[in-house]
Amino acid sequence: MGVLDGKIAVVTGAGRGIGREIALMFGREGAKVVVNDLGAQVDGEGASPIADEVVAEIRQRGGEATANYDTVATVEGGEGIFRTAIDTYGGLDILVNNAGILRDRTIFKMTEAEWDAVIAVHLKGHFCCTLPFARYIKETNRRGCRILNFSSGSGLRGNFGQSNYGAAKAGIAGFSRVLALELKKFECTVNVISPGAATRMTIPLAEARGRPVDPSDPTRGPQQIAPAVTWLASEKAKDITGEMFGVARGNVSILHQPVPLKTYHSDTVWTLDQLDRAMPKLVEAKREYDEAVKDRSAPRPLDD
Ligand SMILES: NC(=O)c1ccc[n+]([C@@H]2O[C@H](COP(=O)([O-])OP(=O)(O)OC[C@H]3O[C@@H](n4cnc5c(N)ncnc54)[C@H](O)[C@@H]3O)[C@@H](O)[C@H]2O)c1
Repeated sequence: MGVLDGKIAVVTGAGRGIGREIALMFGREGAKVVVNDLGAQVDGEGASPIADEVVAEIRQRGGEATANYDTVATVEGGEGIFRTAIDTYGGLDILVNNAGILRDRTIFKMTEAEWDAVIAVHLKGHFCCTLPFARYIKETNRRGCRILNFSSGSGLRGNFGQSNYGAAKAGIAGFSRVLALELKKFECTVNVISPGAATRMTIPLAEARGRPVDPSDPTRGPQQIAPAVTWLASEKAKDITGEMFGVARGNVSILHQPVPLKTYHSDTVWTLDQLDRAMPKLVEAKREYDEAVKDRSAPRPLDD
């Protein structure tokens, strides 16, 4: 018995890295898996049939899987990925929007093409793959579906040289919060993962910073992300929606949402003098909060 027995899943960008590990675990847990990947280089250029290898691996272990090579970055591609699930398995229950690329550059040097390519694969890619699935959920009144979206610390906290990627990843968090509200009445949950894993996306950066990471380390490699995604994709997570989870370095965390920490009110239009008083107090409240949270969120053993 697997926790995803009888479920039909799409995992985008599942030819390697984090997506591959999710597809393999979904297969082991009984899901029929559409392994989507166009087999691009890290910058999104090129194509290769790497999805086939993951499909073969799932089948070798007795699971069910089929490949799809469409891009997530167009509405036609998203439709093609969705159709593969419908035509091959007769439905869809779980969508993992994981595909991604990088075109790192500081704002001083970033080109329009670099901005557009990253927004297209990440932010628009989430839209393109979700659109046919959301419509299908509504039209067929399919219950208990799951959407797992991929954000990043780059978008939620910021990372030097990644304004295109950070904008897309923050946008994905906002997209997901709205989707969670819109799909709630169909009992479809929408949650966000902010992962950290040694893959081709991060290994070169870690090496450049003199802190090499070993992808086979169970607390650092892409295999550590799959269990949390699988759990959230299962029946177990039916009451959890609109949340963001950090999964990295062996840690599983729940992330806070951008809500007010302290508020002052004025019945008239705020004056600059009033703001001279209010702003430092607001910023101080935030600093105190950050300090308190640093303590509270330090990694601890499960039974603590
Ligand atoms: N690795 C990390 O530490 C980390 C951190 C934060 C966020 N993420 C996010 O996690 C996700 C997976 O990252 P990863 O580290 O496994 O990267 P990866 O490069 O190992 O895998 C990404 C896969 O997406 C595929 N892909 C790229 N463009 C595509 C497209 N248009 N259509 C279909 N497939 C496409 C690639 O071919 C590749 O196989 C990404 O969304 C990434 O932004 C990763």
